[in-house]
Amino acid sequence: MSETSIAVVPGDGIGVDVTREAVKVLQGVGEVLGRPFRLHEYDYNADRYLKTGVTMPPGGLDELRTFDAIFMGAFGDPRVPDMKHAADILLGTRFGLDLYVNHRPIKLLHEPLCPLKGRRRADVDFVVFRENTEGLYVGMGGNFKKGTPDEIATQIDVNTRKGVERIVRHAFEYARTKGRRRVCMSDKANVLTFGHDLWQRVFKQIASEYPEIEASHLYVDALTMQMVKDPSQFGVIVTCNMFGDIVTDLGAAIQGGLGLAASGNINPRGASMFEPVHGSAPKYAGKDVANPLGAILTVQLMLDHLGLAAAAGWIESAVVDCMEHGLTTKDLGGSLGTAAAGDAVCAAIRRLAN
Ligand code: NAD
Ligand code: IPM
Ligand code: MN
Repeated sequence: MSETSIAVVPGDGIGVDVTREAVKVLQGVGEVLGRPFRLHEYDYNADRYLKTGVTMPPGGLDELRTFDAIFMGAFGDPRVPDMKHAADILLGTRFGLDLYVNHRPIKLLHEPLCPLKGRRRADVDFVVFRENTEGLYVGMGGNFKKGTPDEIATQIDVNTRKGVERIVRHAFEYARTKGRRRVCMSDKANVLTFGHDLWQRVFKQIASEYPEIEASHLYVDALTMQMVKDPSQFGVIVTCNMFGDIVTDLGAAIQGGLGLAASGNINPRGASMFEPVHGSAPKYAGKDVANPLGAILTVQLMLDHLGLAAAAGWIESAVVDCMEHGLTTKDLGGSLGTAAAGDAVCAAIRRLAN
């Protein structure tokens, strides 16, 4: 069997701290499988950008696409206020590798972590598919008379039929394959009467091809309210790039916190990239306090994507086991540091897999 190759880009701040633990878990799983992963680390980050002026080097993306998968930590550094390096490295990878599916599971693994009253594990278990290559993220627009009282700034929201169709179809295909009964599309078509009218029409057309799946719609403001009021009504949610960014932080909160949320940036026909949902949380960087479980559950998502479902399952069981035994960082009520929390997951994996 050929070796699975993973490019690792820790990034900035706590991205470095949590990626170290994610790599530890990946190596632990490799040992249990008797099949080590071939890891190659890249220092694309704010430090390197500030020292060299280079964000993603020429040919960097083409090198990343040769791996079976890419793991990224997080980007963001107060010394780079315009996030130029993140635009090139993180968004550059999403756009450059055409990773049009942003797959963000919202799954409560341990009931006491849910901030909603009386919610059971089964009540919070859905998936958000965020369109990942268009919308307000494309960087089109500009300014006029900048810095004057008359200044104008525009940011263009790009929605293409191809782009909307492929993410909506992915949501329905996922629902069909995984036995999820419902797909809810969320937009703001009552105001965005051009861009989100396209979403409405495409959604209706594609939904008609999946009669066994219940298709519904919520405006995004109502969606946020319903996610809090009754998360059990959702199976699959599909939405645009900007709304997907926002609702998945809310989703992270109802599954126990931003430190737990995982994501995959997927091109179903090419190398895909995996990263926790959280950012670089600069104030916690290098202090051994960041929760590594979001990054570790991101490894689970990556292994599942690579067809290693059993190994992915060990990771989830190990994380649940650690939560149940209070072997977690402070944000989850435990007392462990980042490294000890990663070690606890590794130990649980060895126990559970043998
Ligand atoms: P953030 O996700 O970095 O942190 C927000 C808060 O969430 C933190 O202060 C902390 O209380 C909590 N938190 C997040 N991750 C945690 C973890 N692993 N363990 C424990 N607590 C955790 O968001 P922010 O403060 O808005 O942004 C900081 C920087 O990160 C900014 O530069 C932002 O642009 C960037 N950012 C990057 C990504 C990414 O690279 N994928 C995602 C979001 C934000
Ligand atoms: C995320 C982040 C990114 C986004 C930022 C850092 C560009 O918030 O992955 O959720 O907005 O997509
Ligand atoms: Mn975000």
